[in-house]
Amino acid sequence: MVRLLVAPSLLSADFSAPGEAVRAIDASGADWVHLDVMDGSFVPNITFGHKLVADTRPFSSLPFDAHLMTEHPDRHIADFAHAGADLITVHLEAAVHIHRILTAIHDLGKKAGIAIVPSTPVSALTEVLPVVDLVLVMTVNPGFGGQTLIPNTLDKVRGLCNIRREKNYPFLISVDGGINEETVPRAREAGVDVVVTGSAFFTAADKARFVRAIRGI
Ligand code: DX5
Ligand code: ZN
Repeated sequence: MVRLLVAPSLLSADFSAPGEAVRAIDASGADWVHLDVMDGSFVPNITFGHKLVADTRPFSSLPFDAHLMTEHPDRHIADFAHAGADLITVHLEAAVHIHRILTAIHDLGKKAGIAIVPSTPVSALTEVLPVVDLVLVMTVNPGFGGQTLIPNTLDKVRGLCNIRREKNYPFLISVDGGINEETVPRAREAGVDVVVTGSAFFTAADKARFVRAIRGI
C-alpha cells in the first residue's frame, strides 16, 4: 500500500505565530504544508497572502502546497511561486482560461493543481487532466475549517482513479475538508493519495501520533 501523504493546513493554526505552526507541521512527520489562501470573494473568508508564504518558508523544507481560493488566480501565481510555493492549486471555477493558468504555473517551474468545489463534476476537468500534477477534490464547501465531510464527494475520487488508470495520467488525488481519524479510512478506500487536514491536526494533542493514525499506522 502506497503511503498516504498528509498535508496539514495552516488555516487552523494560531496566526499570531505562523512560523511556529509550520515548524509544528514539520516536526509532526507530515509530508506537505497546506496553505489555504482565501480572498473573501471567491470564498466568504479572508486568510493570508504570499508574504506569509515567504515569511514561513524558512521554517520547513517540506513542500509548500498553496491552495488559491481566489478570484483572478492568474494575478497571483507568480507571487506565490516566488514566495516559495512548490505546488500551486487553482480552482476550476475561478477563471475561464484555466488551461492557460496551469501552463503558466508550469512555466514558473512549479507543480500545478486543479481544485473543484462539491458542486463541480469530475467531467468538467476532462480537458485539463492531461496537464495537472494534482487534483484537489473539496470535500466541504470551501471557506472555513472545522466543517463536516460531504460523503458523495468521495465518489469523485473513485471516478478520478478510474480515469487516471484508463488514460495513464500521472496526477495525484487530494481531498480537503473534514478529514480526521474517523473520515480518513473512507477517503483512503476511495483512492486518495494526499489528505489535507486542518482542525483535526491543530487540535491534536500529539501531532506525530495523529499523523501516524491518519496514515493508518
Ligand atoms: C477550505 C479549506 C479547509 C481546510 C481544512 O475550507 O481548505 O477545508 O483546508 O479544514 P478542516 O480539516 O478543518 O476541515
Ligand atoms: Zn485547502
